[in-house]
Order: sequence, then structure tokens, then C-alpha cells
Amino acid sequence: MLHSALINVMVKAARRAGRSLKRDLGEIENLQVSLKGPANFVSLADRRAEQMLYDDLTKARPGYGFLGEEGGTREGTDKANTWIVDPLDGTTNFLHGIPQFAISIGLQREGTIIAGVIYNPANDELYIAERGKGAFLNDQRLRVAGRKQLSECVVACGLPHIGRGDHELSRREMAEMQNRVAGLRRFGAASLDLAFVAAGRLDGYWERNLQPWDIAAGLIMVREAGGVVSGIEGGDTAMATGHVVCGNETIQRELVKILKPLG
Ligand code: IPD
Ligand code: CA
Ligand code: CA
Ligand code: CA
Repeated sequence: MLHSALINVMVKAARRAGRSLKRDLGEIENLQVSLKGPANFVSLADRRAEQMLYDDLTKARPGYGFLGEEGGTREGTDKANTWIVDPLDGTTNFLHGIPQFAISIGLQREGTIIAGVIYNPANDELYIAERGKGAFLNDQRLRVAGRKQLSECVVACGLPHIGRGDHELSRREMAEMQNRVAGLRRFGAASLDLAFVAAGRLDGYWERNLQPWDIAAGLIMVREAGGVVSGIEGGDTAMATGHVVCGNETIQRELVKILKPLG
């Protein structure tokens, strides 16, 4: 499968950072784990991977801006293009040796995400998407699941941890959803939740209070796989609000119908 030069740059960077994460996996005692806030961990693994991604991406595309979870915003001379990068999405999983974590790279051009790469080095699953060109998992074309009845669907969510989000609201959402779906899941890496929706493994996913680096690549992945991504209220506001609802057209609409009135 031939991809554009842009995707090749992103894939190469993701694979190199992925090798670094793989080396660090299981070396927790050497990773200088610290807390950014309650239950909000960061480690040398996150910082090393981000540095590699910054180096590789800015070397390949000098001037592009760079927004990374650990390093914040680094403006470029090219104001139209910005990399939006989560060097390790699913840090809590990673630090527990749970192989559900990923590198997430999105490219925003003139305010629109035009390309995304999500890579889980633990199982070597590489997801790529480019605007108008489709989404792929290890070169296999992706399509969101086709189920139309929520009662047949497996849906994932995020749960706010200590010190984050509205736990009461989250409980109401979960209780409501439990009555409506075939299965509810919480995997712990937002980028992969979105990638799983793109791959048709999950029928839907929703989570509140995410950051641009959690979702930039995942949004285009779902859309290029034929799915719909919105904010909780149903509009195209996920990047702006950090609240995400997605699935095929029918399931996204059904999820919004349930979640919107709750808060
Ligand atoms: C987290 C993961 C998790 C989500 C959190 C994110 P991080 O990202 O995506 O699934 O529930 O809200 O912060 O901190 O592991 O990169
Ligand atoms: Ca984090
Ligand atoms: Ca993240
Ligand atoms: Ca992260």
C-alpha cells in the first residue's frame, strides 16, 4: 500500500517513538514517574517519546507548529500547519504494563485535521488516515460497524479519575447507557477508543473533558472510516470542547439523544 510523503513522515516518527516506548515498558523503576495532578501520571517514557516526535516531525517539516501534551505549544513560522501530538496516550495503562496505549499524531491545517496516525507498539497496530483517502489498520481499509440497534452495540466510554470531571454526571451516563447497550467498555486510551470505532470493533464511544492531543488523529480516523464524530450536543465541536461522541451515523445520533439531556 502506497501512502503520501506526509503519512510516511508521520509513520516513521511514530514507529521510532514506539520503539522507545517498548524499551521503556516494564522498566517502571527507572522511569521517574511523577504526578501532574491527582492520578495524572507522567514519566520519562512520555517525555522521551515526545522529544523524538518533536525532533523527527520538525526535521521533516521545518516551520510547522507543534502542540504536545508534555511540552505544550511550540509555535512555528508556518502558521497554517500544526502537529498535535500525544506521545503516550494511556500512560496509566502503560505504567501498569497493560498493552493498551498509543502514540497519536494529528496534523491540523488551517484549523482542520487533515491526517492522523495512531500506533500501538505493544501489538504493532498502526492506524492511518488522510483526508479524502480513507482510514487503514496495517494497510487494511477500515469501515465503521453497521449495527443500527443500540441494544446490539458494544460502546466504550471514559471515566474521570480522582480530581477530574463530574463524577455524578458520569455515574448518570453510565447508568443510562447500561440499560441501553449490549456491552459497555473502558479501555483507557482515548486515541485507541476512536481507532477501535474506526475499525468497527466498537460501535460507539463517548468521553468528556479530553484534550486536542487525545483526539486529533482519532477524529479523522473515524470520519475517514465513514463514521460521525460530534460533541455531546451533536455538533462539530469535539476539538473545541473536548467532549466526544461517535459511531456510525445512527449510533452517534442515538448516543447524543441519551447524553445531551443528562448535562
Ligand atoms: C488519557 C487517556 C484516557 C482518558 C484520559 C486521558 P493520557 O490520556 O486517553 O483514556 O480517559 O482523559 O487523559 O494522559 O494517558 O495521555
Ligand atoms: Ca497524560
Ligand atoms: Ca492522552
Ligand atoms: Ca499522554
